Amino acid sequence: MSLAKSLEKKLIEAAEAVQKKAYAPYSGFQVGAALLGKSGQIYTGCNVENSSYGATICAERGAVVQAVAAGEREFTALAIVTASPEPCPPCGICRQFLREFGSDLLLIMVSPPTKKICRVLLTDYLPAAFSCEFLKEAMEEE
Ligand code: THU
Repeated sequence: MSLAKSLEKKLIEAAEAVQKKAYAPYSGFQVGAALLGKSGQIYTGCNVENSSYGATICAERGAVVQAVAAGEREFTALAIVTASPEPCPPCGICRQFLREFGSDLLLIMVSPPTKKICRVLLTDYLPAAFSCEFLKEAMEEE
């Protein structure tokens, strides 16, 4: 449940770079996410807010959308960078969105101002998750 130090550093740097692109005029809370595909490719996303607040999309989901659109669906790790003093975990919607593509994703949450870093497996943040397994059973019954 860990990445090589150099790869982790590269992933965090990618998240830090995209964090600067976040569009967060309402909350002022900028989030950068970098998702490592099993191919080795890195996909990034930032939060994009909207005047209709509920239309906002989080950085984590942005990174997943980029990856899937590029043809990649298997992932190893996700770095999340915020300026909060404590490393910021993904929201509930993002946990479920990430879970679609596997439960053993390594989450690396980083606060550059305090240099705090937290590493957790997605399955530990979303135990007893709803997944496609339940839908498969229902579809077989029809
Ligand atoms: N945000 C994310 O980008 N990821 C999360 O997991 C938590 C929240 C964003 C959404 C919104 O633009 C801002 O942070 C404040 O909620």
